[in-house]
Amino acid sequence: MLDKSPDSTAINVPNDLAALWMPFTANRAFKKAPRLLAGAKDMHYITVDGRKIIDAASGMWCSNAGHGRPQIAEAIAKQAAALDYAPPFQFGIPQAFELASRIAELAPKGLESVFFCNSGSEAADTALKIALAYHQISGQGSRTRLIGRVRGYHGVGFGGTSVGGIVNNRKLYGSLLAGVDHLPATYDREKQAFTKGEPEYGAHFADELENLVGLHGANTIAAVIVEPMAGSTGVLPAPKGYLKRLREITQKHGILLIFDEVITGYGRLGHAFAAERYGVLPDMITFAKGVTNGAAPMGGIIVRDTIHDAFMTGPEHAVELTHGYTYSAHPIACAAGLATLDIYRDEKLFERAKNLEPKFGDAVMSLKGLPNVLDIRTVGLTAGIDLAPRAADLVGKRGYDAMVSAFHENDLMLRIAGDTLALTPPLIISEDQIGEIVEKVGKVIRAVA
Ligand SMILES: Cc1ncc(COP(=O)(O)O)c(C=O)c1O
Repeated sequence: MLDKSPDSTAINVPNDLAALWMPFTANRAFKKAPRLLAGAKDMHYITVDGRKIIDAASGMWCSNAGHGRPQIAEAIAKQAAALDYAPPFQFGIPQAFELASRIAELAPKGLESVFFCNSGSEAADTALKIALAYHQISGQGSRTRLIGRVRGYHGVGFGGTSVGGIVNNRKLYGSLLAGVDHLPATYDREKQAFTKGEPEYGAHFADELENLVGLHGANTIAAVIVEPMAGSTGVLPAPKGYLKRLREITQKHGILLIFDEVITGYGRLGHAFAAERYGVLPDMITFAKGVTNGAAPMGGIIVRDTIHDAFMTGPEHAVELTHGYTYSAHPIACAAGLATLDIYRDEKLFERAKNLEPKFGDAVMSLKGLPNVLDIRTVGLTAGIDLAPRAADLVGKRGYDAMVSAFHENDLMLRIAGDTLALTPPLIISEDQIGEIVEKVGKVIRAVA
């Protein structure tokens, strides 16, 4: 229990952890040995007891510019003082329009309209709703089917959960949305293990869409949603040619293609968006996380001009899209977003990620051969390291132990997905810090052998 007396030098933290039901957390284990954070600066978190923890996760794929950036903090403070809240329905703030223009400028040409929400989950659900509405207003109301992918993650709304393909995230929640189907995952360990960048094998996984079209009929399918690199399932880069193939097939059948770039957006793969890296133009891109460097909740969708324009008909006093959130384009999030995009531009962080990719890939790949390492995948400034489960009925335990050992014994913050360790550090990382993280990960892997 922490000393809460006024003259205590300890950082004040609650001494009763019971009331908070933590999200996606092993609550009982956490409360026995909490991992409590009190500060963050650049590449590090500071724990409540003053330890410095190197961040190999950008928080949660969010803080691409590193932590504690004064420019962002000042922009937030200034905005909160000037205009704390403004209704986004029927009213607007200049910063929202400016941020939308800046985001559209970063996106591939043709994706020109930005719709704001507050998270990646809302972004996924919004994109799916726009797809359905677009077909409805275009006289193709029979197109209601949504296609996701096995091992996909699109947040936790009912839409995102339905098109998502991680079984543990789905199985507690009943029948979810009707009329959803899934493409196969793009991963085959036998053919792809220990690949840096996009695997040679696997473009043909996109062809399964032709089978789904054959099964359901193209005129029933509204949209396909995929992550260009599946992140939350454990870092699965798209196989070479896969996304292009998916674009060809969707285009051929009038199906919209949505890239969920909540993780891959804002530099993670060395470009503003992964769509640019792969030279594929989807109909919509979702984003969140990195848009504000994690400093304020914000998400959004960048929409193709033709889709947006299709809604701009009918009487001018009428609402064109009956969708939105009280906190869409929140002033504080817009201020954080503008300051964040300035930093990305001024420090050329997307290019930095691109330049560091080979060194990062080589460094992480050096962990091959350590105990229980079944596969390592790297792409951009991201890596997934699959560890063998401790036993068939203990799937996820070795990964969990690794995360705990990293934090408590090695001053390292890791993300885990089951038994996969995900490394996804801020793009400001130095080459020395890449070495430091890889060395610590090596120690953690040995510690959980
Ligand atoms: C690809 C993708 N989509 C959606 C989400 C959900 O974002 P949020 O947690 O902000 O709702 C995530 C979160 O990790 C994600 O990785």
